[in-house]
Amino acid sequence: MDITSSTIALITGASSGIGEALAIALAGNGANVALCARRTNKLEAVAEAVRNAGGTPLVITADVTNRNAAEEAVRYTIETFGGIDILINNAGRGHLSSVEDTTQEQLESMFELNVYSLFYTAAAALPVMKQQKRGHIITVSSVAGKMAFPFNSAYVAAKHAAVGFTAALRAELVETGVEATVICPDGVATDWAGVTEGGPIGDIFVRGIRMSKQIAAERNLPRSPLQPLMSPHDVATVILQAIRNPRESDVFTHPGTYELAVQAATNRQALEQQYLPLYLGMREAYETRSTGE
Ligand SMILES: NC(=O)c1ccc[n+]([C@@H]2O[C@H](COP(=O)([O-])OP(=O)(O)OC[C@H]3O[C@@H](n4cnc5c(N)ncnc54)[C@H](OP(=O)(O)O)[C@@H]3O)[C@@H](O)[C@H]2O)c1
Repeated sequence: MDITSSTIALITGASSGIGEALAIALAGNGANVALCARRTNKLEAVAEAVRNAGGTPLVITADVTNRNAAEEAVRYTIETFGGIDILINNAGRGHLSSVEDTTQEQLESMFELNVYSLFYTAAAALPVMKQQKRGHIITVSSVAGKMAFPFNSAYVAAKHAAVGFTAALRAELVETGVEATVICPDGVATDWAGVTEGGPIGDIFVRGIRMSKQIAAERNLPRSPLQPLMSPHDVATVILQAIRNPRESDVFTHPGTYELAVQAATNRQALEQQYLPLYLGMREAYETRSTGE
């Protein structure tokens, strides 16, 4: 789909990170961009940036885990701009805890945000998209939707569900003119790590990586391969490409991550061997998280 001044997009999680960068990138092509998240002040600042970039913003304060609020966000977009061409389900939050420490509340909130909300907004947008015979629903999952990391199990399970959701949606939408694509970013430099449920994940990762290097040296193992963080702007560029040229396959943002995902699906043992020092380092970092090293 071309992105022009008549394009209408709704982005959930548009108040920071990938959603913010994507809003500005769409605005650079003159698009009408509905910005949805919970923090109105942040959305107002993104709206200003969208205007400056040449787009038309619409601020929608909503918690997408509330079905009525999520549906209303879609309805308000359609009412204001006269339709909806692109829905980007990007709102999401991480999670940090071992399987046995994961509480019922954490499980529910991970799935409400990272999975259930996808159904709410998509269900509200689809009738209009199908009628238009044009539309694209983009789900921002994660590389964690294709392979696993320790101490993130609720997030990993939810992001795998987001990949499954998009695959099922794509199957439902054949020959309707409406596309469905899942984006699987690896690490991106955003607030994500700081707002992780269960505590900021950054410290565990930093200490886990440090410990993994020690473990690799002690056991004479190769260091775990880790992808460099990408900027939200670079991820937005990849998503724009996916909008312009929809592909049947899942979209990976980082070089090498697709290969890792294939390995996770076809030779998990080999992948786990590569990541063994990181898994062990993260376990040590997780187990010493409250007392420090
Ligand atoms: N950063 C990474 O390394 C990485 C890697 C792979 C995938 N991802 C995925 O990328 C997506 C965007 O994350 P990000 O990295 O850009 O982090 P971020 O800057 O923390 O963005 C998350 C966005 O989601 C919004 N949000 C959270 N809960 C919400 C709710 N209940 N209702 C509406 N909006 C809500 C937040 O806004 P408010 O707080 O204002 O509501 C914020 O705009 C997420 O789905 C994340 O899982 C991130």
